[in-house]
Amino acid sequence: MSYRFADRLANPHRSFVKEILAVTETPDVISFAGGIPNPRLFPTKEIAAAVEKVLGQDGQSLLQYSTTQGYLPLREYIADRYRRKNGLKVSADEIIITNGSQQGMDLAAKLFLNKGDGVVVERPSYHVAIQAFGMLEPSISAVPLLSDGVDPELLSRACGRDGVQLFYAVPTFQNPSGLTYSSQRRQEVAQILARHQVVLVEDDPYGDLRFRGDRQTPIWAEAEKAILLGTFSKTVVPGLRIGWACADREVIEQMVYAKQATDLHTSIFDQRVLYQYLVDNDVEAHIAALAQAYKGQCDQMLASLRAHCPAAVGYAEPEGGMFLWLSLPKGLSAMRLFDLASEEKVAFVPGQAFRCDGGGDDAMRLSYSTLDEAGIEEGIRRLGRLIERELAD
Ligand SMILES: Cc1ncc(COP(=O)(O)O)c(C=O)c1O
Repeated sequence: MSYRFADRLANPHRSFVKEILAVTETPDVISFAGGIPNPRLFPTKEIAAAVEKVLGQDGQSLLQYSTTQGYLPLREYIADRYRRKNGLKVSADEIIITNGSQQGMDLAAKLFLNKGDGVVVERPSYHVAIQAFGMLEPSISAVPLLSDGVDPELLSRACGRDGVQLFYAVPTFQNPSGLTYSSQRRQEVAQILARHQVVLVEDDPYGDLRFRGDRQTPIWAEAEKAILLGTFSKTVVPGLRIGWACADREVIEQMVYAKQATDLHTSIFDQRVLYQYLVDNDVEAHIAALAQAYKGQCDQMLASLRAHCPAAVGYAEPEGGMFLWLSLPKGLSAMRLFDLASEEKVAFVPGQAFRCDGGGDDAMRLSYSTLDEAGIEEGIRRLGRLIERELAD
């Protein structure tokens, strides 16, 4: 017996990414492939204390159904932090709590895409965003990233096509490239999107993990039509699955409607526990400690690359986040290196995973977030040796 599944599930790219991820999860591999927070930095004890406190004080309402838009004090906390840290004018009714920022993408897609509508993404782009938008069967096009953000001319051209509704971007410490848009690019993007009346979906899971340079204001602040996605996954823990979307009330109202149909609401237990954790602890100190830890790992990876990798391999120094993007010298294949690296028990994600339009075999994503210094050094030493060998062939 075989089932007849909907057309939206037929993505040729899909098994490729699945295979890659399966290899990288083998236990004795030094894996630069994951893009997950370091579990050693989780505030486990503090969260346990928050669970005990809220469950003891208000167990019944914690275990009851709740509202779709999300726990009001938590939305107020998010709005207040935006005002303090980013100078953004946001109120709690312009925020909806979601199951991670991933659900924000799903809701944005449901709100704005009919089959065949256009979505523009960065090249390379976060692969699970491509998956989320792909579910609505749009036509997806990709605009290359330059060293300080998306190429403005090509963005304008892509947004000028008929039926383009959304531009999805990760302008700060991008996954996969680690790249951050300059202020000038941010302004240009806002202007281009306004000119073409395209809605910005700005995904900002890493912005707080800055360890160099100055904080940048989200493009959302300047954009005419925009949704800003945020998450506690990288600053507290991903397992609670709490993120949010921030947008005009008109958009939030539609998101509430779409979310209700999907899951009624995000776990109120998790929201209350998270809120208690946030008010009982010095969260800013915790985030600063995370950024420092990731800086140490990033600097170790950069030093190892300088020591062990041929100079023909290109990379930029990230100002924060979890990723480094390597550009390979002409003639080298990331996929072939991936296979060779598996034999040497080291893993990364080949560039193809982040492309919706083919290509990408000339680059790879490395994450330093979960490895200690010795692991980073040894993994890069093995990778550098392989690249040298391939260059010599
Ligand atoms: C760019 C980007 N957006 C969204 C997510 C998903 O985050 P969340 O746990 O908030 O759903 C990730 C996770 O790695 C990511 O890298």
